[in-house]
Amino acid sequence: MSKAKVEILTDWNEQIVLIENAAAIMPWSRSNLRSCFSSGYQNFAAKTADGNIVGFIIVQQQLRDEWTIMDVAVDPNFQRQGIGYQLVTQVTMAADLVQAEIILEVRESNQAAQHLYKQSGFNQIGERKEYYPNPDGSRETAVVMSRKPQSTLSR
Ligand SMILES: CC(C)(COP(=O)(O)OP(=O)(O)OC[C@H]1O[C@@H](n2cnc3c(N)ncnc32)[C@H](O)[C@@H]1OP(=O)(O)O)[C@@H](O)C(=O)NCCC(=O)NCCS
Repeated sequence: MSKAKVEILTDWNEQIVLIENAAAIMPWSRSNLRSCFSSGYQNFAAKTADGNIVGFIIVQQQLRDEWTIMDVAVDPNFQRQGIGYQLVTQVTMAADLVQAEIILEVRESNQAAQHLYKQSGFNQIGERKEYYPNPDGSRETAVVMSRKPQSTLSR
């Protein structure tokens, strides 16, 4: 069970790069991550009681009713404690409030993330062949997933 608390992350924090590098197969560069701390994005961090960031999620919100989860990562030392689910749930709850659909792409081989997204109400809607670069120079298919907004009235 996670003891992390999810908060909006408005300001850039170097911890993001460390988590990305430790968790991702092909990590985003620092400058790409940093460019997501600007208008058109809403990002969240999972923090421990002492304020240490142990996970983050980056959401592009350029369209009012269609958001994109660009990246989510949890420090490997804190994985499998429900933190990824907490981060995604923060975004799905916010999306439901404004009735926004959420779209994302995920590596075909990334079963952990696909399970997480399915658990959070996402379904596969397509795929993009040879979308992601691999460390060996080959490319991997992206699974495209979507989550339609749910009514907040029944909650
Ligand atoms: C994907 C990721 C964010 C999940 O974070 P997490 O905090 O470990 O996830 P949670 O503990 O909340 O797990 C939620 C669900 O995800 C699935 N899941 C998480 N890790 C898994 C794993 N290693 N294998 C299979 N399923 C996994 C499970 O369904 C899990 O539910 P369960 O624990 O009830 O079985 C984390 O593994 C990570 O940072 N991966 C590297 C970055 C990445 O791939 N990001 C996605 C980019 S699209």
